[in-house]
Amino acid sequence: MFDFTYFTPTKVIFGKDTEKRVAELIREFGGTKVLIHYGGGSVVRSGLMKRVTDILDREQIAYVTLGGAVPNPRLSLVYEGIELCKKEKVDFLLALGGGSAIDSAKAIGYGVANGGDVWDFYDRKRQATCSLPLGVILTIAATGSEMSDSSVITKEEGLIKRGYSSQYGRCKFAIMNPELTMTLPDYQTACGCTDIMMHTMERYFSNGGNMEITDALAEGLLRTVKKNALILRDDPKNYDARAEVMWAGSLAHNGLTGCGSDGGDWMTHKLEHELGGLYDVAHGAGLAAIWGTWARYVYKDCLPRFKQYAIRVMDVADEGSDEEIALKGIEATEEFYRSIGMPTNLRELGVTPTEEELLDMAKKCAIGVGGAKGSAKVLKEEDMLAIYRASM
Ligand code: NZQ
Ligand code: ZN
Repeated sequence: MFDFTYFTPTKVIFGKDTEKRVAELIREFGGTKVLIHYGGGSVVRSGLMKRVTDILDREQIAYVTLGGAVPNPRLSLVYEGIELCKKEKVDFLLALGGGSAIDSAKAIGYGVANGGDVWDFYDRKRQATCSLPLGVILTIAATGSEMSDSSVITKEEGLIKRGYSSQYGRCKFAIMNPELTMTLPDYQTACGCTDIMMHTMERYFSNGGNMEITDALAEGLLRTVKKNALILRDDPKNYDARAEVMWAGSLAHNGLTGCGSDGGDWMTHKLEHELGGLYDVAHGAGLAAIWGTWARYVYKDCLPRFKQYAIRVMDVADEGSDEEIALKGIEATEEFYRSIGMPTNLRELGVTPTEEELLDMAKKCAIGVGGAKGSAKVLKEEDMLAIYRASM
């Protein structure tokens, strides 16, 4: 195993009606003037926005609002948010929504606190040394951004989607009421479950330093999400299933399922980020569309892990050769994705890249990872291109 630092400073408030504590939490972390940042309006339609602003009015906490964070959130809105915060002397950010609103808020926080061009951080030109404090009321279980150190932003010019991770990207608090996720479209629920599983699988399929305790946590998490994703497919208002998935989403990406490993593989995410940047697909669906092809491309280089996963997570019988068992595990995963309405190739995802676009994505992906990346198997630009081609 490898040494590790486990740092999860986010205060989690989990359960029914927990959003009622928003004012108390903002005060606890020193907020006096708040930017409420949100997405395309689901929080307005659900009534959450009104409930939150009523509480802030009553508690005499000043705020301004900025909506419009789209899935694959854009840099231009981040710039707008930075200017608004400076003009309004905002000292606390509150994101209402999912990964897109949270990530956009994280970027605004970096921009306000550090000065200069915030894209520098995503372009790997410099490191943040601070940020504005950020709290979250989560409305979709998916990215784990509420407890992760990362944010992902898309620059419109060149359609470049890039992630940036830093300890300053951790939220001060995350309010998680599973009931708030009940208004999600089925497709988004399934995308979220896929993303949650993928955050664990990215760490699981590695060739270095795996620990028994970490494996047990990861496998338990994967089995739980798999089971509850099917419950939610048939019964979207099931509170307990919503709660299981919501908490799994945070644990899948707060570092817990990577303790002791080499950091994981992460190439499915990197390959998806190019799809998200270019075609604006939902993140979870993009991951599902690429994973099977990636897995078949790399499994022989990480065979013990693929075999273990097949048996312990996908209930494949321990019979036949290791390769046969590993392949059955990959097939069972794709079958699961299909059962919750997720695509398993680019065609099913609804995108048909030209050869030029495939070359462009592979090139941008290679640049984004600094040349080559992966732990199950190290992938170079030609491997990335081969996976994109095979996933058509
Ligand atoms: O924008 P609104 O109107 O709020 O609608 C959203 C959006 O259309 C809707 N939605 C959310 N909660 C809802 C709801 N609709 C009805 N009822 C609710 N309760 O769902 C859609 C998706 O929301 P979004 O925030 O985009 O989803 P998600 O949480 O999956 O975030 C995706 C973004 O996060 C990035 C992805 O790449 C993508 O850009 N990621 C961030 C990570 C991180 N910061 O750690 C890690 C991930 O791997 C990922 O890359
Ligand atoms: Zn993800």
